[in-house]
Amino acid sequence: MSYVFQIPLVLCWSLAAALAAPGDGSASVTNIFAPLSTPAEAIYENALLVLVICAGIFLTVGGLLAYTIIRFRRRPADADREPPQVYGSNQIELAWTVVPILIVFVLILVTARAIYDVQGAVPPPDALNVTVVGHQWWWEIRYPELGIVTANELHVPVSEPTKRRPTFLRLESADVAHSFWVPQLAGKTDLIPNRTNRMWIEPKQPGTYLGNCAEYCGTQHAHMLLRVIVHSPDEFAQWVAAQRQPPVEDPQARVGREVFFSTSCVNCHTINGTQARGTFGPDLTHLMSRDTLAAGAAPNTHATLRAWVRDPQTLKEGCLMPDMQMTDRELDPLVTYLLSLK
Ligand code: CUA
Repeated sequence: MSYVFQIPLVLCWSLAAALAAPGDGSASVTNIFAPLSTPAEAIYENALLVLVICAGIFLTVGGLLAYTIIRFRRRPADADREPPQVYGSNQIELAWTVVPILIVFVLILVTARAIYDVQGAVPPPDALNVTVVGHQWWWEIRYPELGIVTANELHVPVSEPTKRRPTFLRLESADVAHSFWVPQLAGKTDLIPNRTNRMWIEPKQPGTYLGNCAEYCGTQHAHMLLRVIVHSPDEFAQWVAAQRQPPVEDPQARVGREVFFSTSCVNCHTINGTQARGTFGPDLTHLMSRDTLAAGAAPNTHATLRAWVRDPQTLKEGCLMPDMQMTDRELDPLVTYLLSLK
């Protein structure tokens, strides 16, 4: 019984948390009750309808149950009397068969319409196309039309009512099944090996939206975080221009550059304009333009970057970047070189 009465408490708590969520686009929490993108809004409307119907059912059933328990409770006067024996009621049985069928039918229609609207959306001419490839345990993000490759942080323009600019995503996987999920932007879509899935987002407010891989994909599944950074049109153009720049040759980073190119770093990572063309790990051309390291496992600072290169296994145990056994003499210049990749 007590479980039955906990359900409305949990519902109230979730709704209160939702209402208290910041609506300013800073989106520090991942909240399905605060949608800020067209597909997420469609899902939210459906979820709300289901919640209202379920609350109605809960109140009706719980109310009748409570009424019956109190009204027909055992009394001393009835100690040796048997209650009236009732066998079935056609009206009640008909009601509890027909009403749920109608409810399910309504939910099927509403859901089918939302699925059709989201999956059948035709990209407007200004839509941005991005390919997202899931890896154990990071996200490769490619902008084929812009010639940009980055990782873990998806930068997109905001979509304005006067000038819609949704982003259409092509989702692929390099190894196992992953799932792309940024609750405020859209529902979950899996990234499956040897298959291409598609989804789209249409953020309506600039800001940073947090998400994560939503399909268990191995040891470091929990450290496969996603950030979607939504820019105003001007800011987005600036970001694109910066990403298309070749890396700056910093003379102070020369020694570290030599360390980088003399170790097997080059087999896994790409740095544009150099002989580093590996694709197993993230593209490092503009490494320092990213806020986080190791798919959100740590902030991208000098100290964490150094700790990460020294031994990736301490920060993200089981990750596929090996400990290169570097001495401090190699490590410090190498980190200086990485820090120059702005
Ligand atoms: Cu990728 Cu879980």
